[in-house]
Amino acid sequence: MAEILAITNQKGGVGKTTTAVNLAAGLSVCEKKTLLIDLDPQGNATSGVGFNKKEYSPSIYQVLLELLPLEKTIKETSLKNLFLAGTGQELIGAEIELTQVIGRENRLKGALKNLGTPFDYIIIDCPPSLGLLTVNALTAANRLLLPIQAEYYALEGLAQFIETFNHVRATINPTLKLEGGIITMFDARMILSNQVKEEISKFFGASLFQTMIPRSVRLAEAPGFGQPIFQYDAKSKGAEAYLALAKELIQRCEPTAAPTSEQPQETGVQP
Ligand SMILES: Nc1ncnc2c1ncn2[C@@H]1O[C@H](COP(=O)(O)OP(=O)(O)OP(=O)(O)O)[C@@H](O)[C@H]1O
Ligand SMILES: [Mg+2]
Repeated sequence: MAEILAITNQKGGVGKTTTAVNLAAGLSVCEKKTLLIDLDPQGNATSGVGFNKKEYSPSIYQVLLELLPLEKTIKETSLKNLFLAGTGQELIGAEIELTQVIGRENRLKGALKNLGTPFDYIIIDCPPSLGLLTVNALTAANRLLLPIQAEYYALEGLAQFIETFNHVRATINPTLKLEGGIITMFDARMILSNQVKEEISKFFGASLFQTMIPRSVRLAEAPGFGQPIFQYDAKSKGAEAYLALAKELIQRCEPTAAPTSEQPQETGVQP
């Protein structure tokens, strides 16, 4: 059974897509067969792994409308073990077209259930909203990851998110787990980043991931080349951090598993 993780936060620009792409890539580097699902009409995860989001077809849109099985939308990426179910702008239409449909929040879950190809991890990149696309991700996932940008007002809006999370748990997905927060764009030199870190730590407690993602120009540049950080600059701080995050996640999901081929290392910015 695959671990299905939704990367969510209704706040825009907090590092959801950067985390989805590079965490999925990090898992694939750790030899975990990983599927990245782009559930955001912006299509940034699709272009982030080298595909043209304007031409990606067939896409998740057709899957949500039950026109095609998920299998048909999956493409290999240039990273071994990393696969993409991509999308483009047409996905906005799915949100509208599904409004009147009974069971509309179950479409992605149903598609994943029928997926013939086995994956170790499935990572879903969500749009910055609490609309039907995000609810589909929350319904299909068994764990949630919340990237939180190290800035003032980082926790603003989170209460509303937790409300949606609780509602989904109470009604359609009782086993959904809030796996934890991930601090992104952290700058250890800034007093502000450190203050915000304290606040986020208090909110998430032990569920906060130890690995923090540093603010890094290389991470911001990589999508422009359609490459995960491991291809764009494997020696960068950003690559180290996302590899550490992938390993931390594997430890959480597979506590009894042997360490991955690479030894755990002190990488990324640790608190
Ligand atoms: N660790 C980082 N260091 C530097 N820049 C980053 C980092 N993480 C993300 N960025 C940049 O910040 C911007 C927003 O990141 P990203 O697209 O991942 O956020 P998002 O939450 O997916 O946004 P949206 O809500 O629009 O989907 C992008 O330009 C990205 O390149
Ligand atoms: Mg995004």
